[in-house]
Amino acid sequence: MRYVLGVDLGTSSTKTAMFDECGRLIADASYDYELLQPRNGWAEQRPSDWWDAAVSTISATIKKSGVSADDIVGVGFSGQMHWLVMVDQDGNVIRPAILWCDGRTGEECKEIEEAVGKKRLIEICGNPALTGFTAGKILWVKKNEPENYARCKKMMLPKDYVRYMLTGEFAIDAGDASGTNLLDITTRDWSDEILSALKIDRGLLPNVYNSCDVVGKITPKAAELTGLKVGTAVVCGCGDNASAAVGSGVVTEGLAFTTLGTSGVVYASSKEPLVDPMGRIHTFCSAVPGEYALMSCTLAAGLSLKWFKNTFCDEEAAEAAKKGIDVYAYLDSIAANVPVGANKLIYLPYIMGERSPLLDEKARGVFFGLSGIHTKADLLRAVLEGVVYSQRQCFDIFAELGVHPEQMIALGGGGTSKLWRQMLADNYRCNISTVVNKEGPALGAALMAAVGAGIYSSLPEACSAVVKFKDIQEPVSENIDEYTEIFNIYKSLYPALKDSFLKLSYIQY
Ligand code: XUL
Repeated sequence: MRYVLGVDLGTSSTKTAMFDECGRLIADASYDYELLQPRNGWAEQRPSDWWDAAVSTISATIKKSGVSADDIVGVGFSGQMHWLVMVDQDGNVIRPAILWCDGRTGEECKEIEEAVGKKRLIEICGNPALTGFTAGKILWVKKNEPENYARCKKMMLPKDYVRYMLTGEFAIDAGDASGTNLLDITTRDWSDEILSALKIDRGLLPNVYNSCDVVGKITPKAAELTGLKVGTAVVCGCGDNASAAVGSGVVTEGLAFTTLGTSGVVYASSKEPLVDPMGRIHTFCSAVPGEYALMSCTLAAGLSLKWFKNTFCDEEAAEAAKKGIDVYAYLDSIAANVPVGANKLIYLPYIMGERSPLLDEKARGVFFGLSGIHTKADLLRAVLEGVVYSQRQCFDIFAELGVHPEQMIALGGGGTSKLWRQMLADNYRCNISTVVNKEGPALGAALMAAVGAGIYSSLPEACSAVVKFKDIQEPVSENIDEYTEIFNIYKSLYPALKDSFLKLSYIQY
């Protein structure tokens, strides 16, 4: 039997999982690290923490599995997108890496859109200039830390740094490269037009590969530290959402997923580079060579529910603990007793500002329609529904672009909630299912390694052999019109409040 490893480099931890060639989980390990927030709105991490995490989880997984390193035929990666990691000519990290949700680059994003032209930028790279994306970070370092910029030999993303440490090779996949604002998504190469407008030297960027390409071999030093065999094949891998797509089988047209994690993501495969001219949702290259992914990302999906629980639900948490059940399952049972529409109460989930589809960091959360009759249960149900309306608003843009998935898979913590899945089915007006494998991005990373090692000839073949669906829920016809009526009001609220959000942001105290 042959085995593959998937290393999933997340924001709060790295998880490594070993699978056999049929996709069965053999062993796994995870390692947490901290988020540095040196200033309001900044977010950084130390690349050395990821390296320690990778070494520790790879060696722990191999030890736990009892599998011989000779039988491990490939290593793949899933990673956080849109970062900036900078190394000097000896491969030493120059400064802490800047995170995907760091908000320091508002000015630089304006400069990018002025230099390239907003319309042209979206045409080339599939996305407007966004504060989270890498190009703004590069310009920020160039302007604010010229000595660091001058020392920089290569720029990369977190998983690319860890892969470099394992193999000594620099590489990036086309999917992650399309989250930098610098890639031409149709040629899968860096855009000379954008690079010259922004005065970024192409030599600073790694070469771009497909996700299943073998881009390096485990070095003797990495083998000694991790327990892997010298020469084991390492594939390029891809960003966390694209890896979750592979791990849940979303690698062919007609399939899509919605993740209700901290953020909310709708992701669908497409053979064509469909681009929203308004940049409300992202277009990235997919892990499947020559194909694309449309993706929306809302910033507070599960986070809205967590905020509500932490702020208002101590009693419910205590009650759930007494009953020995999960607090979120208990909150679901409370919300399930409130009728569709939460007794005419609507929640806008913009508590962190909003990315898709509003692109407005000044937007803020709202309860609309509050009345003296409302109870905590109504507010709770409104939060769950508001998060679903925000996904629906993104999903409708997929439809505007001609993407009509036949099957939607629910992922993330929220995807385990039957109530939330039913709301998705009723609002999307399509069937919702879940997947049997729980490992999502780590499985996706391992399947890329399996393709790279020749166990499968393509990702669609690997996914159809390994990924199994379950829990199909159909839309309930009588709910559809009721949700639609409220959703139409939901959609009208942000345009009505946009200016007020801006004025609120100017208040200094
Ligand atoms: C995607 C995005 C996040 C990060 C988190 O555009 O910003 O999903 O990849 O890890």
